[in-house]
Formats: sequence, structure tokens, C-alpha cells
Amino acid sequence: MALYLVTGGAGFIGSHIVEELIRRGESVRILDNLSTGKVANLGPVRDKVDLRDTDIRDLDSIRPLFKGVDYVIHLAALASVARSMEDPVETTQVNLGGTVHVLLAARDAKVKRVVMAATAAAYGNHPVLPRVETQTPQPLSPYAVTKLAGEYYGRIFNDNFGLETVSLRFFNIFGPRQDPKSPYTGVLSKFIVAYLTGAMPVIFGDGEQSRDFTYVANVVDASLRACRAPAAAGKVINIGTGKSATLNQTITVLNGIFVKPVKAQYGPPRPGDVKHSTADISLARAALGYEPLVSFEDGLRRTVDWLRKDLAEA
Ligand code: NAD
Ligand code: UD1
Repeated sequence: MALYLVTGGAGFIGSHIVEELIRRGESVRILDNLSTGKVANLGPVRDKVDLRDTDIRDLDSIRPLFKGVDYVIHLAALASVARSMEDPVETTQVNLGGTVHVLLAARDAKVKRVVMAATAAAYGNHPVLPRVETQTPQPLSPYAVTKLAGEYYGRIFNDNFGLETVSLRFFNIFGPRQDPKSPYTGVLSKFIVAYLTGAMPVIFGDGEQSRDFTYVANVVDASLRACRAPAAAGKVINIGTGKSATLNQTITVLNGIFVKPVKAQYGPPRPGDVKHSTADISLARAALGYEPLVSFEDGLRRTVDWLRKDLAEA
């Protein structure tokens, strides 16, 4: 049994990783300041984890939490492009300053490996699709810059500071527990809530922007593989499905699921947005043995079921 420290473990992706670690019989400590995460996300595993309400911006207070830890999965961050455009300072303090603190604390505690959540947003509007890790990054938002800088720090710690790190460039992750109430939540969560409440989904721009929408179970599998796969150390690896859909196409798929068709409303494009995004997952296959487990359509149905229940219970 190994001890995993999951930063951001009470958030959307983190809570799914924590749940799977507990299912596998591992020990889990969570470091989370509960700013966008919630204790409720932990559901039945709440009593099986060591949850610490701590902020990664405070190096002294997080250091003790790394003692005895084998693997760190670092997810704590402000995860929204839009929020970073409104407040670049806080996003930088959390995502970049906080990440350097996590790396330092992990190195000093002799952690075996840190797996870091990086982002497809690092590619920006690079003209070549699908996105390959060797492309030159073109970040378009403070969020993307902070996450890309985090990757670079990860590489420096891996190459010079005796700490193994892996950065996983997650594409657009969706699924249950992606906060349906937050204005900064993922687009699919917002669209599904609109369908369930009889509101109109709002598309920013012409709806022809595309995303590699990746169900959260896929990213759980990839993150746990990345902790131990020997070939992953020091690498930056895309995690997506290799396919993408435009927002207009997602409305068509949702109209099929909900039977009663809905018309989307179109608004101005969102500043800082990437136009197209599809992952090349060859490196994930080679370095991690990763293969997407759940398709976009299946994931969407599971998310609709969860949101329907969540709204009914609210
Ligand atoms: P989330 O907001 O649900 O999770 C982030 C968690 O970090 C929350 O539980 C929050 O309370 C915690 N947190 C925030 N600031 C903190 C701080 N200062 N100290 C301690 N904890 C703090 O978001 P998510 O979608 O689950 O994202 C998780 C990670 O994955 C983030 O690093 C994000 O950038 C990255 N990522 C997400 C996506 C996606 O599509 N959701 C894609 C690419 C990368
Ligand atoms: C998302 C993640 C980010 C991650 C990145 C990786 C969230 C909140 N953001 O960013 O953490 O690093 O993927 O690719 O999960 N849109 C609408 N209507 C809405 C909301 C959004 O049209 O109501 C549009 C946006 O303008 C954008 C697209 O949908 O073009 C996706 O937006 P969003 O879900 O916020 O994700 P990303 O910005 O791609």
C-alpha cells in the first residue's frame, strides 16, 4: 500500500482520482483549500481519507503534509481560462507559485514522483492539428501561461533537483461533479444544466470551436498510470481521446439524448479562447499504455444522469 497526496483532491477531477485510489486499497491524503472543491465531492470515501484544508500558497503549512508520501498528484489550481482573464494575479499565485511550493515540498520529503495536471490550453492556436507534444506552445491566456510555466518547473525539478515529475496535458475533461453551479465550470456541465432547467445554452462565438472532450474516467486511469510508468519520468504527455467535437455538434448530440430539441443562443466570442483542440495520444499510448476507456457519447449520458439526480436533490 502506498501513500498518495492528492492536491485539489476535493475538486472535480481530484475526487474521482481519490475514489479510485481508495477502491484500489491505497492510502490517500488530500490537500485542498476547498475554494472550488467541496467535501461533498468525496461522498462515501470521506471517512477513508486524510483531508487537510490547506492552501498551496502557504509553503510552511503544506510542508508537513508531504511526510511519508510516495506519490503526489498535483491538481490544485484555479482551472478556468475566463477567471484568469479577469484576475491574472490570483491565478498566477495559485497555479504557478503554488506549484513551485508543491515541487519544493515534494523534493524535500523525498517523494518518488509528482504527476502534475497541465493543459491542452498550452497549444493555443498552433496551426497543426492534432496537437503533438513537440509543437511549440502558444499560450493565449494567463491560465495557459501559468500551467505551461508549471510544466517547465516540473522539468527543472526532474532534471536537476532529483525529483521525478510528469506533466499530463489534460484536454477538456467532463463528467459528474464538474461543478454545475460555478460560472467558471466546463461548457458541457453548463449546457446540460441548461437542458435540465429549460434554459437556453449560450454559445460564445459561432460554435465552430472544437474540443477533445474527454470523460473523467480516462484521466483517472492516465494519472494513476503516470505515477508508476517508468518511461513517463520527465515527460509532458497529452491526455485526451484523439477525437473532437464542435460546440454545435455537442448541441446536436444533446438534442438526441434529451429527445426534445433545444436551440442554442449565440453570444460574443470569449477572450483568451482557443479555436480548435484535438490530442495526439501516441505518446500516452507508448509511455503509459493509456487507451481511452469511455467514449464521448457514453460519458455524456453518464454526466446527464448524474446532473439530473444532483439537480433533483438540490
Ligand atoms: P476543480 O476546480 O474542480 O479542482 C481544483 C481543486 O483545487 C479544488 O478542489 C480547489 O478547492 C483546489 N484549490 C484551488 N486553489 C487551491 C489552493 N490555493 N490551495 C489548495 N487547493 C486549491 O477543477 P478540475 O477541473 O478538477 O481541475 C483539476 C486540475 O486539472 C487543475 O489543475 C486544472 O488546471 C487541470 N485541468 C483541468 C481540465 C478540465 O477540463 N477540467 C483540463 C486541463 C487541466
Ligand atoms: C478547459 C478547462 C481548462 C483546461 C482546458 C484544456 C474548465 C472550466 N476549463 O478550458 O481547465 O485546461 O479545457 O483544454 O474545465 N463556452 C460556451 N458557452 C459557455 C461556456 C463555454 O460557448 O457557457 C465555450 C468557451 O468559450 C470555449 C468552449 O466553450 O470556446 C470551452 O470552454 P470551457 O469549457 O470553459 O473550456 P476551455 O476554456 O477549453
